[in-house]
Amino acid sequence: MVQNIQEVMPHIAFGGDYNPEQWDEKTWLEDAQLMKEAGVNLVSVAIFSWSVLEREEGQFDFSWLDRVLEILHEHGIGVALATATASPPAWLSKKYPEILAVQENGVPYQVGSRQQYSPNSKRFKLAIRRLVEELAERYKHHPALKMWHINNEYGCHLSECYSDESLDAFRQWLKKRYVSIDQLNQKWGTAFWSQRYNHWDEIQFPVNLPTFYNPSQKLDYKRFMDDAIFDLYLLEKEILREKTPEMPVFTNFMYEFKPLNYFKWAKETDLVTWDSYPDPREGRPFRHAMHHDLMRSLKDGAPFYLMEQVTSHVNWRDINLTKKPGEMRLWSYSTVARGGDGIMYFQWRQGRAGAEKFHGAMVPHSNNPKSRTYQEVKQLGNELKKLDALVGAEVKARVAIIFDWENWWAVELEGKPHNQLSYLNQVYAYYKFFYDNNIAVDFVTPMANLKKYSLVLAPMLYMVKTGYRENLERFVDDGGTLLVTFFSGIADAQDHIHLGGYPAPFRKLLGLTVEEFAPMAMEESNSIVANGQHATVTTWADIITLEGAKSLAHFKENWYAGKPAITTNRFGQGTAIYIGTSLEEDYLHHFLKGVTQQLKIDAPLEAPKGVEVVERVKGNKQFLFLLNHLEEPVNLLLNTAKTYQNGLTKEKVKNEITINKKDVVILVTD
Ligand code: GAL
Repeated sequence: MVQNIQEVMPHIAFGGDYNPEQWDEKTWLEDAQLMKEAGVNLVSVAIFSWSVLEREEGQFDFSWLDRVLEILHEHGIGVALATATASPPAWLSKKYPEILAVQENGVPYQVGSRQQYSPNSKRFKLAIRRLVEELAERYKHHPALKMWHINNEYGCHLSECYSDESLDAFRQWLKKRYVSIDQLNQKWGTAFWSQRYNHWDEIQFPVNLPTFYNPSQKLDYKRFMDDAIFDLYLLEKEILREKTPEMPVFTNFMYEFKPLNYFKWAKETDLVTWDSYPDPREGRPFRHAMHHDLMRSLKDGAPFYLMEQVTSHVNWRDINLTKKPGEMRLWSYSTVARGGDGIMYFQWRQGRAGAEKFHGAMVPHSNNPKSRTYQEVKQLGNELKKLDALVGAEVKARVAIIFDWENWWAVELEGKPHNQLSYLNQVYAYYKFFYDNNIAVDFVTPMANLKKYSLVLAPMLYMVKTGYRENLERFVDDGGTLLVTFFSGIADAQDHIHLGGYPAPFRKLLGLTVEEFAPMAMEESNSIVANGQHATVTTWADIITLEGAKSLAHFKENWYAGKPAITTNRFGQGTAIYIGTSLEEDYLHHFLKGVTQQLKIDAPLEAPKGVEVVERVKGNKQFLFLLNHLEEPVNLLLNTAKTYQNGLTKEKVKNEITINKKDVVILVTD
């Protein structure tokens, strides 16, 4: 049985990627001392160490890693030991060139950077099997070992491969999925443009084509590559499970990462972890807040770890702004507030050589313990020690937003009525209202059990697979409120149209038909009128015929003036709202305010804009996070019926509280 993560780490995990192979033993000892002072309790070691662990095929050198783990353990620092498979050594591809991934143009990637492997290479799989088995065997009983860090950011640089071996694997994958070539022809709609296949070996990759690809084929290629990379992960996981059945495993996920269906992946991890690098130019990182909520949702609300963030600045943007004093701490608490039980960084010590030498770290080049960076790290690390009671606490939401990776793939394939639609931007537009108003949101798949939610939003749910309609109908029938937006319910799992009038699967639920789409040019806009109020709309207009629904707003201009733009329909005990256009932010927020007010969904505490309020709950204890992103202090009135303790200062708090600029207060109910 795998150990529960909260038993393994009964504290907020704090630390980062540690790359000791770039330093000498004297530095390791200094590192351990500095880590201890900064409250570090977990480090990820050996992520990029393959070439120094296995120096030649089958020749292992663990001596340095033995010593590093010994030092860390002596200093009471736990280890998330990486499987070191993220960057294969040069000798491997010299000996077996077929392990290299191949680009669309047929040119293989080369050594000298990282992640150049093909997920479909059998030889590569043999090589990782040998390495992971050796590592697991050697360290399975090591007292410093807390969990396994599998590979690193799967697919981050390379999530497609066009090698011969990949083509063979693609054909095998298709055979398994469709069994007969006739079935494939039907599912790919190959009667179009004479694309019919007689044999599996006629099938090629959907690249290097004179014009548009076959969308069903492209979608399957995306599914295939996601599965291929996932298989690589599972291969490592199975070895580790066998050798260390109790040890939790994870791999680190990424921001806005389209190629991997993380809902699927998360089921095979014991802990969701992810890497977050907001650009300080964005201001308040609400998109990253959304990802915290998404990551927490991947395993039904289980707390996640932030596996990587930076103390100061990255080095991979055009201009790398540094976080201002206090921002790293504030954003870290926003992570904790949204379900983060771990705050980790890339990386511990700023590198001296290599492509990332200007990337910030917990210990900067100066090595000065008085540096702002290290001081901020130390402050946060020591504060987080006071929050043991929080570990495992949940965020309770009454609102859910449907998020579906395959829908993301399908809706952004080429050849659509509007080819600048961004699924993420649609989701962000709706999420932002809840973020700004401090209303907790979960993310769910279309087939999730929706019982615990009062309001479910389905932005641009273009792809509707078998079962989605029934699941959403059940939710509304039972009294839920569902909000669906334009270009939803259009295609099936193969990206073939659901015939019978758009959005065929949802027509009954929404009480309408969309007769036509009228996308708008980039510079074009229209307006809508709702209760005498006017608002600007852009991007898209659905030409709607009501079939039982009521119009809440209609278009004002153009040939479809007077036709409905927003509708509402009673369905069973509940309500299904449809928004057939893209609303300007002010009006969208006004509209959603009305919906949430009616459902009595509100923030845990009233606060001015710019103050983030999030609640986590464990048993009968509430942890109320008040994060002041503003440049001035704010005073908040509290629920007078309750007495709180300040989680960081341990002072009693009643009636009201002042939060300094860029500061955080965590109130814990007594
Ligand atoms: C991550 C990666 C790290 C490091 C970091 C720099 O994507 O996992 O190894 O490269 O970016 O920001």
